[in-house]
Amino acid sequence: MRYLSQKPKETIAFAKRVASRLRGGDVVVFAGGLGSGKTTFMKGVAKFFCIRQVIQSPTFVIAKVYRLKRNTARARATHLLHIDAYRIMGRTQLSALGLDDLIGAPGVITCIENPKRLFRKSDYTHRIALQLVNPERRLIVFQ
Ligand SMILES: Nc1ncnc2c1ncn2[C@@H]1O[C@H](COP(=O)(O)OP(=O)(O)OP(=O)(O)O)[C@@H](O)[C@H]1O
Ligand SMILES: [Mg+2]
Repeated sequence: MRYLSQKPKETIAFAKRVASRLRGGDVVVFAGGLGSGKTTFMKGVAKFFCIRQVIQSPTFVIAKVYRLKRNTARARATHLLHIDAYRIMGRTQLSALGLDDLIGAPGVITCIENPKRLFRKSDYTHRIALQLVNPERRLIVFQ
């Protein structure tokens, strides 16, 4: 799926459509630079699952877990795990935080901003690339 977004609201609406395709156990990595709209996208994912908390970049806390307020037959998930790996230096640090057992767990939908080289192709199920085509347009590709 791909979409050309011209405002945050559109990114959120597209993210809701993407979220409807996600399942527990999925690991989604984001590719896209600073301010490309990764956290805005996450607001749409949270909205689809009726999570009412405010979604903020977990840059300083590294990871946040939300309980889904809506489950679908397709998703079969109970939690959304939102990680920002920006400050993570390596796999060891990830393990030390206790995230190994949560990432990709059956009832968990995991979304990772700034996965850097910590997550290889075999580690994730989907990739979302956000790219600034020009100041008004952002191309979002969901694979
Ligand atoms: N079409 C759009 N989609 C998403 N965000 C947009 C769009 N147009 C403008 N913006 C603005 O761009 C910014 C995107 O910020 P956001 O925190 O979502 O990005 P990010 O990729 O998570 O950044 P960071 O790398 O700092 O975590 C917001 O201020 C938002 O209002
Ligand atoms: Mg962010």
